[in-house]
Amino acid sequence: MTESHAAIQGDDALTEADRLGLYRVLLSRRDVRGQFLPDPIADAVLARILVAAHHAPSVGFMQPWSFILVRSPEVRTRIKQAFTQANDEAAALFKGDSQATYRSLKLEGILESPVNICVTCDRDRAGPVVLGRTHIPTMDLYSTVCAVENLWLAARAEGLGLGWVSIISEPALKDILGLPDNVAWARSAISSPSRNWKPKAGANAWI
Ligand SMILES: Cc1cc2nc3c(=O)[nH]c(=O)nc-3n(C[C@H](O)[C@H](O)[C@H](O)COP(=O)(O)O)c2cc1C
Repeated sequence: MTESHAAIQGDDALTEADRLGLYRVLLSRRDVRGQFLPDPIADAVLARILVAAHHAPSVGFMQPWSFILVRSPEVRTRIKQAFTQANDEAAALFKGDSQATYRSLKLEGILESPVNICVTCDRDRAGPVVLGRTHIPTMDLYSTVCAVENLWLAARAEGLGLGWVSIISEPALKDILGLPDNVAWARSAISSPSRNWKPKAGANAWI
């Protein structure tokens, strides 16, 4: 942990400003898919939000997640193609006006953002027996979602936008990123941090 991480962690007591700041982050976090700047994100900032994600709770403390940073334009182009295919399949399920509405939505920022983050869940990371997961095996997936939420909130605190893209077939994403077989569940959470974003409550309330 770096000095700046230690400074953020601080002691147990929150100041009034910290308390209000936490609520502000929680209430102003949005799923961001546009208004991206192509500028690179400083490694120190990326490291801070990833450290925040790694501090998520996990069943049996198994920490099943990994974070794959995807900067390569070629790889992101292949991911965008996988999105387009999945999105066309999804659009076809809507009829009439709803299909036109669906097709008008901006549901990803894969190429516009400077970096995508794929979050994976290694279901075998802690072996077959994990404290707390015996009767509900999906608890490792829930743990990974906790890490994504931490990532999302930390990105908001850093003034970065981040959107969750789930409109991708998991086998396609695994193939593109060359994920190993023991990663039983490749979370298709390609996230797109950005700058230049003004949080607006309800801005994405289309569902
Ligand atoms: C598991 C999950 C998957 C999501 N997948 C997508 C997606 O593929 N594309 C998209 O535009 N938004 C996606 N979202 C974002 C939601 O649409 C968004 O969170 C919701 O509309 C509420 O808006 P807010 O996050 O800005 O409060 C996803 C959110 C979650 C939690």
